[in-house]
Amino acid sequence: PADELIGGLLSIPSQEAAKVATEPHGGGDKSTVSITVVGASGDLAKKKIFPALFALYYEGCLPEHFTIYGYARSKMTDGELRDMVSKTLTCRIDKRANCGEKMEEFLKRCFYHTGQYDSQEHFVALDKKLKEHEGGRCSNRLFYLSIPPNIFVDAVKCASSSASSVNGWTRVIVEKPFGRDSKTSAALTKSLKQYLKEDQIFRIDHYLGKELVENLSVLRFSNLIFEPLWSRQYIQNVQFIFSENFGTEGRGGYFDHYGIIRDIMQNHLLQILALFAMETPVSLDAEDIRNEKVKVLRSMRPIELEDVVVGQYKSTTKGGVTYPGYTDDKTVPKDSLTPTFAAAALFIDNARWDGVPFLMKAGKALHTRSAEIRVQFRHVPGNLYNRSSGTNHDRTTNELVIRVQPDEGIYLKINNKVPGLGMRLDQSNLNLLYSARYSKEIPDAYERLLLDAIEGERRLFIRSDELDAAWALFTPLLKEIEEKKTIPESYPYGSRGPVGAHYLAARHNVQWG
Ligand code: NDP
Ligand code: BG6
Repeated sequence: PADELIGGLLSIPSQEAAKVATEPHGGGDKSTVSITVVGASGDLAKKKIFPALFALYYEGCLPEHFTIYGYARSKMTDGELRDMVSKTLTCRIDKRANCGEKMEEFLKRCFYHTGQYDSQEHFVALDKKLKEHEGGRCSNRLFYLSIPPNIFVDAVKCASSSASSVNGWTRVIVEKPFGRDSKTSAALTKSLKQYLKEDQIFRIDHYLGKELVENLSVLRFSNLIFEPLWSRQYIQNVQFIFSENFGTEGRGGYFDHYGIIRDIMQNHLLQILALFAMETPVSLDAEDIRNEKVKVLRSMRPIELEDVVVGQYKSTTKGGVTYPGYTDDKTVPKDSLTPTFAAAALFIDNARWDGVPFLMKAGKALHTRSAEIRVQFRHVPGNLYNRSSGTNHDRTTNELVIRVQPDEGIYLKINNKVPGLGMRLDQSNLNLLYSARYSKEIPDAYERLLLDAIEGERRLFIRSDELDAAWALFTPLLKEIEEKKTIPESYPYGSRGPVGAHYLAARHNVQWG
């Protein structure tokens, strides 16, 4: 299969990856990595972190000596943690394989420690247990803060109290949200930096770990045919679309405090935009890439409220089933104005992108679940076939679609002659569907990001100046929406979202793909 051929040239085999993970301290057998999942009783830990750690173990990507500790306030024994974790592990890497044995081995490396997030004493007790497992080897420690943001700093403060006993590296993965605006984000960064250096903080944006997002740079910079077209000269507009076909079920309390702009646009979509639009980095080194991304973010024009549409889903009944509206959630105030949908037109005021609308659209409780990037090219100047066949404008422009999920793929819409004696044009797709081309399962974003954090690879994590620039762009807009108490347009659960999004696109001479 194609992936095996390419793998031989480009990929680091998993055993090698495991070696790299521990190499700075003199080889796999002399050092150890302790991974502490802080907030282990929570949703993210169960749904994503433990399954990703198991997948890495299954693939042989974790170092020889590693221990995983769950840490949370809930009372649990090691056995109970293992029971909880085992329910979420799957054999997704190789569905035919019986991975039961591997699961057993993995679970034996998982332990649990009950503790408060603001108790140094409890973290010292954890440190003692970690030391026992480390057995005098060089100790490297990774803490994953899978807890609500208001307790990040307490947990970091207490976890760092035992830093002096660690003779390898200590890294902390921080989950979003990184604040609610420029001010709170800066305060969080300042507080974290009392205890950690910037290179110890791994701010996760799991969209950067998605296969097709990582592939963006490969597509652009390793294919001659794309990069020359990647500018205002040939691209009419670019769209970043995120849509979920379910509401905030279960997370209404969190969501109401943030809204869709903070939840999806300011981070996931903006990060993709920055990767999409950046100049060629000097190298693939993390700092070179992040330098280019931050330049894009700092070149962005302030967002005007008139270039934004916000919406909120309402209850609807379809086929006898009633789907709840956003404010039907008991954890959401009845008069909430929090947007569950937003569309915006953004601009990058630099030489490459001057005047090109970058449209973003993100919404919950829409008709479908997908995430994609759509690049709509300009019209062919003096198009012969437009004139002779009278084909309409929209059909003749090319469009490149990068489907991040589901059914990962890349396709290019081209004009083609319909076979036959006549001369009729048809728009067809040059289609790279991953499931047809590659036999291997695509890793979950959390697998890649956890492995990178263990290896000290920062390319896919957010640097503090990137975060500042992202907030500088969105904070004034959010403030204006909140101060003006902008009323979100209603849209029915399961629909395509508010009609205002179409008017917004039309004002910029764009049609949503
Ligand atoms: P949870 O709300 O499930 O919280 C995780 C754990 O933290 C809980 O099990 C609980 O453990 C503890 N906790 C919860 N609330 C409090 C509180 N008020 N005070 C002290 N401890 C508390 O969060 P998630 O697992 O959903 O998410 C973890 C982090 O990841 C959050 O920052 C979230 O925003 C982010 N995130 C989550 C995603 C998801 O899909 N769930 C997606 C992207 C980001 P105990 O009571 O046992 O101590
Ligand atoms: C999270 C958001 O960051 O991303 C959630 O907080 C959203 O609201 C989730 O559902 C979507 O992630 P994915 O990987 O399922 O598309």
